[in-house]
Amino acid sequence: MIRLKNLSKSYNLGKEEIPILKRISLDVEEGEFLAIMGPSGSGKSTLMNILGCLDLPSSGDYELESMNMLTGHANKLAEIRNQFIGFVFQSFHLLPRLTALQNVELPLIYSGLKKKERKERAMDALKKVGLEDRASFRPPQLSGGQRQRVAIARAIVNKPKFILADEPTGALDTKTGEQILSLFKKLNGEGVTIIMITHDEEVAKKADRIIYIRDGELFKERSEDVHA
Ligand SMILES: Nc1ncnc2c1ncn2[C@@H]1O[C@H](COP(=O)(O)OP(=O)(O)OP(=O)(O)O)[C@@H](O)[C@H]1O
Ligand SMILES: [Mg+2]
Repeated sequence: MIRLKNLSKSYNLGKEEIPILKRISLDVEEGEFLAIMGPSGSGKSTLMNILGCLDLPSSGDYELESMNMLTGHANKLAEIRNQFIGFVFQSFHLLPRLTALQNVELPLIYSGLKKKERKERAMDALKKVGLEDRASFRPPQLSGGQRQRVAIARAIVNKPKFILADEPTGALDTKTGEQILSLFKKLNGEGVTIIMITHDEEVAKKADRIIYIRDGELFKERSEDVHA
């Protein structure tokens, strides 16, 4: 479903070109639950931003279901992003003045659905994460775990091709984090493809496959093993 080929990203700092991602190649199948692990500064968020069409690589290819993702115009990319990708962030990124239901409804605003249908779809997504009884609560009235579940409901409401989660349990205590991971597991069991970034081995173990990133390069094994 996703194919990255020789993807590189570098930043120009003055005259110097700093490589951040180095010729990354990666295939992700539909229905996979993949974890990407790596230390701070290794390029995880940079990779996630490219996967999420929030940023462009310096060179290489990115295909999603055989569509070339790197030749599209900016507004087409925004559309693809909205239709195909659900985002989950460490710090939830909910709008505090909107209710849980309104937050979940947001990605549907551009979909041309009627208001009533939007509400129904948003409520269905909230049910999936077990929060239908909190639909009228605003984020400040919810716990951290509940906020992340609202964010996950928002991520799935458009029935995306895949979910990109950057440190989704990073701001949560262990037990709440486990609930979020169980929810990902459940959604994955229903067919949702998940790509999750984490620096926590215990969190990564919940995925079907782990790949490691170190200094902008991908490894199939932990870096210690690679260099042992
Ligand atoms: N706009 C930028 N200009 C220059 N360098 C950048 C820029 N954005 C990120 N970098 C560099 O790219 C490297 C990778 O950053 P990235 O945010 O992808 O790391 P990460 O693996 O997500 O780390 P963390 O676990 O701390 O979130 C870092 O060394 C960072 O300094
Ligand atoms: Mg990061």
